[in-house]
Amino acid sequence: MIRLSRIRKGLRLLKCLALRKPLDPELQRDVHVLRLRLRVWMSVLTRKPLDVRFHHEFNLWAAKGVGEDMDNPHRRIIELALPKMGLAAGDRILDLACGAGLASRLLASSPAGCGRVVAMDISDEMLRHARSRSSRLPNVNFVCGTAEHIPFPDNFFAKALSVEAFYYFERQDRVLADLYRVLAPGGRLFVLICLYKDHADSLATVDAVDVPVQVRSIAEYKALLEDNGWIDVNAEEFVRAPQPGRKPDVHDRALLLSAQKPVLSAQGMVSGERREKASTLCG
Ligand SMILES: C[S@@+](CC[C@H](N)C(=O)[O-])C[C@H]1O[C@@H](n2cnc3c(N)ncnc32)[C@H](O)[C@@H]1O
Repeated sequence: MIRLSRIRKGLRLLKCLALRKPLDPELQRDVHVLRLRLRVWMSVLTRKPLDVRFHHEFNLWAAKGVGEDMDNPHRRIIELALPKMGLAAGDRILDLACGAGLASRLLASSPAGCGRVVAMDISDEMLRHARSRSSRLPNVNFVCGTAEHIPFPDNFFAKALSVEAFYYFERQDRVLADLYRVLAPGGRLFVLICLYKDHADSLATVDAVDVPVQVRSIAEYKALLEDNGWIDVNAEEFVRAPQPGRKPDVHDRALLLSAQKPVLSAQGMVSGERREKASTLCG
């Protein structure tokens, strides 16, 4: 049912248009959201590739303020993950699918000190929010693009982190291959997610989002990483005990996957060869 407030807003908009009056900031924002929503519908109707759909869908999320809404639940799990990352001064770190940039800011201002954080996302609107909220931090750069093609040279990063995004990646093996390429030998990947098969309560969110997601179990994720040449693969769960008066939340249980690129990695090889070679070198 259309809410009364929406009808009133619609009438206000029509009046402004008819009288050629400038729109107030609230109406401007609503028109912007509407325009982004139309782009999402068009990309679905015209069967655009998933990357294009994701770009539009997450631009819409960003315009609706969803990026900022995620700060609170994500902060707690990111703060649990950061001490596990062994951050060191001078580290170049990739925050893959950074959204509104919370993890990038926490990394860039971590007491361990890190050299530079690259915050990357498929949504330019998310990045706009991330950039404006990170202006105090000179050591964060922003890059727009898909996780399958990380626009950096081989061996560039010491570490990579991806928070609450990995299940959106359509071809997770390709993302892992590019992460492997851009991480330095001995570099470590950290994937933090709250949607996975072992977390039964999280599975309801699959229908709640308007884009396809990949759902794997912990064992399946570990096998995927190992099959793609990663070593020292670990999985750790952060489970928050229920408390009276606090509503349960999907972020009460989170999975931190971590894996290392072998020190003696087979550089410049296609993933199949690399997988074989990596297991020979490190096996
Ligand atoms: C749930 S948000 C998480 C954002 C952020 N990491 C956080 O913790 O608040 C998921 C993010 O993944 C990004 N994303 C989805 N698919 C992507 C892809 N293929 N490449 C890069 N970013 C992607 C979206 O634009 C969105 O900002």
